[in-house]
Amino acid sequence: MEKTIAVIGAGTMGAGIAHVSALHGYRVLMIDEKSGAVKNAISGIAGRLDREIEKGHITADEASVVKARLIESGWGQVSTASMAIEAVLEIMDVKKSVFARLDDLLPSGAIIATNTSSLSITELASTTHRTPLVLGMHFFNPAPVMKLIEIVRGEDTAQDTVDQAKAYAQSIGKETVVVEKDTPGFVVNRVLMPLFIEAMRIYEEGVASKEDIDKAIQLGLNHPMGPLTLADLTGLDVDLHVMDYLYNEFHDDRFAAPLVLRRLVRAGRLGRKTRHGFYAY
Ligand code: CAA
Repeated sequence: MEKTIAVIGAGTMGAGIAHVSALHGYRVLMIDEKSGAVKNAISGIAGRLDREIEKGHITADEASVVKARLIESGWGQVSTASMAIEAVLEIMDVKKSVFARLDDLLPSGAIIATNTSSLSITELASTTHRTPLVLGMHFFNPAPVMKLIEIVRGEDTAQDTVDQAKAYAQSIGKETVVVEKDTPGFVVNRVLMPLFIEAMRIYEEGVASKEDIDKAIQLGLNHPMGPLTLADLTGLDVDLHVMDYLYNEFHDDRFAAPLVLRRLVRAGRLGRKTRHGFYAY
């Protein structure tokens, strides 16, 4: 029988996680408080599946099976899930309220994973009565394509929970690294944010054009996209939020957000969300 998981939050990351999970045989309960969000996510996934059919990667029948595994769900159905992955807004209180609700509704042995990109797993776990069953599973955008999941231990996370998360990751074709200490930004964002910050400072100082900064890193370091393009893809509001969080936690100027980023976010130029960040597409 297909395993059922719940994905809370149907934004870019939640949709990507639901997509890759359904592709690999999971029945996915999709929940989002925002009206229409799950419908939008499912139609976005359906569109990508159609392109996969056109490319000959999957058949129309296979795509139909995958689509049927994506279920627009209410909280009531969560009791049938063996694991929940939370991918809501990167705001501690919002995530905590989702965690408390999941803790009430999930079966007692079910894992709660958060896709947070930087927040404390231990603090989130503290809102539940199942701290050994809580961990971080940090996916990367676009989730169906990116190979890595950072598995993050909270203070109380049980080894069996880590093992189950690794098994799930493997079952959806992902590689994992284990972040042993619950520290802000884990591994990837702790390295990525200073890269973004330096690229933005170079741009602010007029050292090179944004196109040349991106080209330099793309061709000079063989990155698939330059840092300013990638910052747009991840969402400038998300990037700023992560930088501010890291800065407040570490009290370290390495993580101080450049003014140009703050200006763009204040102007509503959020990259991913508005398609007008460093670049106007
Ligand atoms: N959903 C599903 N599939 C997607 C997709 C999406 N949103 N976007 C692209 N793809 C697929 C395409 O269908 C294509 O598949 P095939 O090769 O099977 O045909 C493949 O990905 C490549 O796509 P494209 O040919 O359109 O474009 P590309 O070769 O330029 O690749 C990219 C696009 C995968 C995004 C690539 O540019 C890349 O890897 N960029 C870096 C992404 C990255 O670093 N992400 C991490 C961000 S950090 C983060 O997420 C963490 C955080 O907390 C901030």
